[in-house]
Amino acid sequence: MLELKQINKVFFEGTPDEKKALNGLNLTLQEGDFVTVIGSNGAGKSTLLNIIAGVLYPDRGSIKIDDKNVTYIPEYKRSKWIGRVFQDPMAGTAPNMTIEENLALALGRSKKRSLLKGVNKGRRHEFKELLSSIDIGLENRLNTKVGLLSGGERQALSLLMATFSKPRILLLDEHTAALDPARAELITKITKDLVEQHQLTTLMVTHRMDQAIELGNRLVMMDAGQIIFEAHEEEKKKLTVEGLIQEFQNIRGSRFVSDRTVLTS
Ligand SMILES: Nc1ncnc2c1ncn2[C@@H]1O[C@H](COP(=O)(O)OP(=O)(O)OP(=O)(O)O)[C@@H](O)[C@H]1O
Ligand SMILES: [Mg+2]
Repeated sequence: MLELKQINKVFFEGTPDEKKALNGLNLTLQEGDFVTVIGSNGAGKSTLLNIIAGVLYPDRGSIKIDDKNVTYIPEYKRSKWIGRVFQDPMAGTAPNMTIEENLALALGRSKKRSLLKGVNKGRRHEFKELLSSIDIGLENRLNTKVGLLSGGERQALSLLMATFSKPRILLLDEHTAALDPARAELITKITKDLVEQHQLTTLMVTHRMDQAIELGNRLVMMDAGQIIFEAHEEEKKKLTVEGLIQEFQNIRGSRFVSDRTVLTS
C-alpha cells in the first residue's frame, strides 16, 4: 500500500555542505505492516518520513500510496491519508486550545467541513470515550488548555489525534525520545494498543533498539540514506540488540554510532 522507489534526496547540492540524505532508497509496505526503523545519526530516518508525508519532495524516485502516485502531492493534501507524531511533544497539538478543541481540529482534517458543527454534546461524549480508552484521566479534562499538559499527556493526545481518523499510514518519529522512562513506556503501550485496534500500517523510528525488536512485524536498519538491513516476522523475532549491532558492523565495517540510541533497556 506504500511503495517508495529509488528515492534520492540531497540537501545543498553542489555546495561544500552537500548532504545525501536519501540515496536510492526502496521500501514497500503491505497493508497492516508495523515497521520499526533504526539507524545511526543522520542516516536519513526523519528525511524518509518527511518525504512520505510530503514535507519534502525527493530529487528522484517515486512514492505511491494505494497505487496512487503521490510523489509531488503537497503535504496538506496528503495529510488525510497520513497520521504523524513527532519527537517534540509541543509539535503535534495547539497549546492555546483545549483538549476538545484540538480533537475537533483533528477530526476536521479527516472529515468534510459540513460534518463539523463545533463541539456539540454528542461529539463531546465521543471525545470522552476516546480519551477514556487511553486511560490517563484526560477524559475529565476536556476543557483544559493543552499547553498545561505534561509532555507524556501531550504525546498521548497527539497519538490519539493522529490515529482516530484511521489514516492509511501512521508515521512516528522517535515520539517517546523526549519523555522520561516511565512515560515513554506508557506512550509505547498506547501506541501498540492504537495500532492494533485500528490495524494501522505504521512506520516508527525509534532510538531504542530493544523497542525496535519488540514492536511490529518488520524492522529496517538505515545508514547513509539507504536501508542496509531488514528483518521480517520470524526472522525479526530472533533478533537481539547485540546481534543488530554486530550486523551493522558486518555490513558497514564500522561501529553503530548514535547519540541517542539506547543499546539496552
Ligand atoms: N532540512 C535540511 N537541510 C539540510 N540538511 C538536512 C535537512 N534535513 C536533514 N538534513 C541532513 O540530511 C541527513 C539526514 O538527516 P535526518 O534528519 O534524516 O537523519 P536521521 O536519521 O533522522 O538522524 P537522527 O538520528 O539524528 O534523527 C543529515 O546529514 C542531515 O544533516
Ligand atoms: Mg531524525
